[in-house]
Amino acid sequence: MCKAISNHLHLPFMAKLLLELMCFFITFSALTSLPQPDTYIVHMNLSAMPKHTLEFTILQNSPGYLSSIRDVPVIAHTTHTSRFLGLRLTTGAWPSSNFGKDVIIGLVDSGIWPESESFSDVGMGEVPARWKGRCVEGTGFNYSMCNKKLIGARFFNKGLLSNKPNVTVLMNSTRDTDGHGTHTSSTAAGNYVKGASFFGYAKGTARGMAPRSHLAMYKVLWDAGAYASDVIAAIDQAIVDGVDVISLSFGLDGVPLYEDPVAMASFAATEKGIFVGSSAGNEGPWFGTVHNGIPWILNVAAGTIDRNFNGIITLGNGVSLLGSSLYIGNSSQSRLPLVFMDACDNLDKLKQVTDKVIVCEDKKEFVGIQVKNAAASRVAGGVFISNSSYLEFFVETSFPALFLHLQEGQAVIGYIKKTSNPTASMQFKLTQVGGKPAPKVAAYSSRGPSSSCPSILKPDIMAPGSLVLASWTQTSPVTDFGANDLFGEFNIITGTSMACPHAAGVAAILKGAHPKWSPAAIRSAMITTADPFDNTLSAIKDLGDHDKPASPLAMGAGHINPNKALDPGLIYDATTEDYVKLLCGMNYSAEQIQMITKSSSYKCSNPSSLDLNYPSFIAFFNATDASLGKKLVHNFQRTVTNVGDRKAHYTAKVAPMTGFKVNVVPNRLFFEHKYEKRNYKLSIEGPKVMKELVVHGSLSWVDAEGRHVVRSPVVVTRVKP
Ligand SMILES: *[C@@H]1O[C@H](CO)[C@@H](O)[C@H](O)[C@H]1NC(C)=O
Ligand SMILES: *[C@@H]1O[C@H](CO)[C@@H](O)[C@H](O)[C@H]1NC(C)=O
Ligand SMILES: *[C@@H]1O[C@H](CO)[C@@H](O)[C@H](O)[C@H]1NC(C)=O
Ligand SMILES: *[C@@H]1O[C@H](CO)[C@@H](O)[C@H](O)[C@H]1NC(C)=O
Ligand SMILES: *[C@@H]1O[C@H](CO)[C@@H](O)[C@H](O)[C@H]1NC(C)=O
Ligand SMILES: *[C@@H]1O[C@H](CO)[C@@H](O)[C@H](O)[C@H]1NC(C)=O
Ligand SMILES: *[C@@H]1O[C@H](CO)[C@@H](O)[C@H](O)[C@H]1NC(C)=O
Ligand SMILES: *[C@@H]1O[C@H](CO)[C@@H](O)[C@H](O)[C@H]1NC(C)=O
Repeated sequence: MCKAISNHLHLPFMAKLLLELMCFFITFSALTSLPQPDTYIVHMNLSAMPKHTLEFTILQNSPGYLSSIRDVPVIAHTTHTSRFLGLRLTTGAWPSSNFGKDVIIGLVDSGIWPESESFSDVGMGEVPARWKGRCVEGTGFNYSMCNKKLIGARFFNKGLLSNKPNVTVLMNSTRDTDGHGTHTSSTAAGNYVKGASFFGYAKGTARGMAPRSHLAMYKVLWDAGAYASDVIAAIDQAIVDGVDVISLSFGLDGVPLYEDPVAMASFAATEKGIFVGSSAGNEGPWFGTVHNGIPWILNVAAGTIDRNFNGIITLGNGVSLLGSSLYIGNSSQSRLPLVFMDACDNLDKLKQVTDKVIVCEDKKEFVGIQVKNAAASRVAGGVFISNSSYLEFFVETSFPALFLHLQEGQAVIGYIKKTSNPTASMQFKLTQVGGKPAPKVAAYSSRGPSSSCPSILKPDIMAPGSLVLASWTQTSPVTDFGANDLFGEFNIITGTSMACPHAAGVAAILKGAHPKWSPAAIRSAMITTADPFDNTLSAIKDLGDHDKPASPLAMGAGHINPNKALDPGLIYDATTEDYVKLLCGMNYSAEQIQMITKSSSYKCSNPSSLDLNYPSFIAFFNATDASLGKKLVHNFQRTVTNVGDRKAHYTAKVAPMTGFKVNVVPNRLFFEHKYEKRNYKLSIEGPKVMKELVVHGSLSWVDAEGRHVVRSPVVVTRVKP
């Protein structure tokens, strides 16, 4: 009866492979099914919530009535994320890049389920002639399982086996036994799959970001663990095979660049012109937790999207409330007794409750424990009243449950307290799109600054990571239901692991549209066109910081915008020599630099500098050196390249930063033709010791025609990296 549910997060590897495990003991009390009456979602003014039972028509005429909608399951697009990112069939980045045609994305992950419809090659172009990869056979995986979509499959476990000689590798092949790699691959470049859904949630057509790109899987994440040596071997092989883009949804805690296998192997990839994207990690919302803070690769934070998975509770008085839910069982219109159990922290008390829907109020972010307690009891259902910013991890329950915000929950508590025999019915499997505000930065998404390279702002951008639907493996259950493991072709999971392949897919589209662009140019285009605003045109909010405006230490430049990235106007380019100059500026020894570059041909020249030609700015204040006086000035030097089609005239616009003076010289740039370069200097002047932890603003180069806004976040902070 005990089923371990893994949260399938961004997988940290080596000794630190952490799969979040939760254990549930379930006794499922089935709800009796009655013919469905009409149900409405009623929006009431809480201050005017009826105190006693009312019929719907009376409710409609009562003073606090605001609006109602007939409750029909809303039809949504899956993977809705492509639509949320603005990708359309007839205009913008998709048609301009032929949907990623001829581009090869290599995923270094847990393998792939080749039979998934996401990896069918219907409609795919021929395998590019330059491809040198192979479809390596192994346990349950033969050559014929590759096709024009999945063009390469390799597995790497020599490192694992030499570190853990005793482990038994049952699936000694690229076949995915976990699900993670199948999910990330289909998110990046899955083919179209009609009729996708997660047991009725998120119904629609699934597709990846670059639906016509080819995929190659390099399996390094094994059930028994993952090792740096296998990761390096996999990336080295991907480079030789000829991938264009590499997606890495894992990382390490607190290692310097010269000990970080991702930094080392991705440097070689960058040298060959291969774009590398990585996930920021799931250790937020604390500062300094970002993984993969590597100057030459893209670092992707995770956010929410405008899609909500809901259930409805209808109280005995006719009031209906919409809450979050991913419960996959059937709805029931029968009314069940409702009982308020305060914080649901007394398991013995909960165990005495049978066949009732318990209501739990969570004032201390204990909702995870409450759900666990409820699952260990014989309750008929649960209503969890919580403002937890980690609900993504709890909404998938194996008993009927939904989650209400603290304020809305008062209607339920108030009703129970004023009614002698309170009852409620619950309905599930409602998918809503168009939710506002969205996106928000997810609380779990790791935050900068990067401890491995503080002078470069990380993460770079944000992409969808919360409750993402994509394909799954058939050997790993997607959920449990009562006492049974359930399997399915799709799964909805959460993490920066899910954000990274979105960005990698967008990089493939950009590569398809601009085959000559360097990895730095593609990264720059994604950063300078990212949206700092949500779908209400307000600053993107941070779930990990009480919904306050998110800082670039949480979301980088903002939410990825593929259509704008297609035509960024200006780019900040960088060569491998520039990265080496930065390593020299970090005072790395020649040996340490060589660990990364694998070559003695790179030399440090004087003076070295921490200033890389990067499309964002971060400066650390709170100097302790008293000799610096009251003011501190940080200087940056940048070179921008005109990638617009014609001559252009740009003006600098600086978003003010309280307490700091940002100066840009010159503040106008003229370009006579395409690919022309121009230099400018940016300085940040501020008090030696700053009060706030983080202050942020931006520099935007705006062209005279208003067609391009080339925006860079500017961050000053006293957070120690
Ligand atoms: C809700 O009721 C309060 C108090 O009666 C009133 O001030 C407020 O304007 C109402 N809100 C809406 C959205 O009608
Ligand atoms: C490969 O596997 C498929 C499916 O199991 C099978 O039909 C086919 O015969 C196998 N091919 C070879 C060459 O073993
Ligand atoms: C591995 O096998 C060896 C030899 O059989 C044994 O001594 C050791 O305890 C095993 N290690 C683990 C972790 O099981
Ligand atoms: C896995 O397969 C590879 C290649 O076929 C083989 O060399 C290796 O010995 C196998 N490892 C295990 C643990 O079976
Ligand atoms: C839910 O309803 C469907 C259709 O009536 C039925 O096939 C399915 O078995 C039900 N599921 C459960 C868990 O009762
Ligand atoms: C809980 O969340 C709701 C909706 O976001 C908000 O209006 C309310 O102020 C929050 N309450 C607390 C105590 O944080
Ligand atoms: C590198 O060394 C120089 C000279 O000792 C020092 O001024 C500078 O602060 C050091 N830089 C870093 C990033 O540690
Ligand atoms: C900033 O400087 C003040 C005064 O020297 C010191 O007390 C404080 O710990 C410093 N904070 C950080 C984050 O370095």
